[in-house]
Amino acid sequence: MSSASAPGKIILFGEHAVVYGRPALAVPVTQVHADVEVLDASEDGIWIEAPDIDLHAELKSLPSGHPLAVVINKLFPHPGPSPCGAEAPCFARRGVNIKITSTIPVASGLGSGAAVSVALTRALSLHLGRPMTNEQVNAIAYETEKIHHGTPSGIDNTVITYARPVFFIKGRPIETFKVGRPFTIVIGDTGIQAPTREAVADVRRLWEADRPKWERVFDEIGGIAGKAKEKIEAGESEALGELMNRNHTLLQELTVSSPELDGLVEAARKAGAAGAKMSGGGRGGNMIALVRPEAAETVAGCLKDAGAKRTIITLVS
Ligand code: MEV
Repeated sequence: MSSASAPGKIILFGEHAVVYGRPALAVPVTQVHADVEVLDASEDGIWIEAPDIDLHAELKSLPSGHPLAVVINKLFPHPGPSPCGAEAPCFARRGVNIKITSTIPVASGLGSGAAVSVALTRALSLHLGRPMTNEQVNAIAYETEKIHHGTPSGIDNTVITYARPVFFIKGRPIETFKVGRPFTIVIGDTGIQAPTREAVADVRRLWEADRPKWERVFDEIGGIAGKAKEKIEAGESEALGELMNRNHTLLQELTVSSPELDGLVEAARKAGAAGAKMSGGGRGGNMIALVRPEAAETVAGCLKDAGAKRTIITLVS
């Protein structure tokens, strides 16, 4: 058996503007994860079992554009009865069972799709005896992000593949960053599933209708992400609260927040968080709040009282 796991993620600063070339900061969230096991099977064929999404199917019954099929077909370019050359990984002579489980809520801004792609790519490449580099894994996960998101920046697959804090600018070499002093974030889930693809497409429509206006907003968001990186590296995390609040206001202007996200952001601030914002694609999904470690449980409790379906306390370090 071969297995692999990949964490969830949150975007600390810069979502949406990152699609337009501005920097963004993202960190892994190890409390939630996608896990994949690959086992040799007695039956021929590639069988997929993903109970969380109620999927039990043979690969060939999935549409070729299905994200799982895209990953598997990239690893096994010759799954059919054609003879396999030494260089071509091949499952023609045996069957496999692929079991996918995940504790990352779907369509909630925590990177569930990217985490499954990363864990699946790693587990399959291990099973073939050809473990892939992070760069190769990231490239495959990016392909599947295009299916999930339409025009992804690549930040989700990158932070999840490398499982390190990343300062991400689309198209630039991967830059990780150091956390000068660990800080605590409470994540609150609205419980509302919201496909990132739709929020990203709506932002694009806004941008196309008035580019100068939205370029200015993206510039300000990018500036916030840059400043936040400096503060995090310097260990001055207390300065992040104000930056989060401003970033949230700009995301509201971009129309990607929602009454539920705004309600949780407000509740976190009232409960003593130094700052709060939505995180990820928006319209639903998760928000994040910066808290003193000793206030984390209180803020999480207040988020639940305000309607959060679940909360996660995570240390960014
Ligand atoms: C989604 O986690 C982040 C977005 O900026 C989309 C992307 O960067 O691909 C909304």
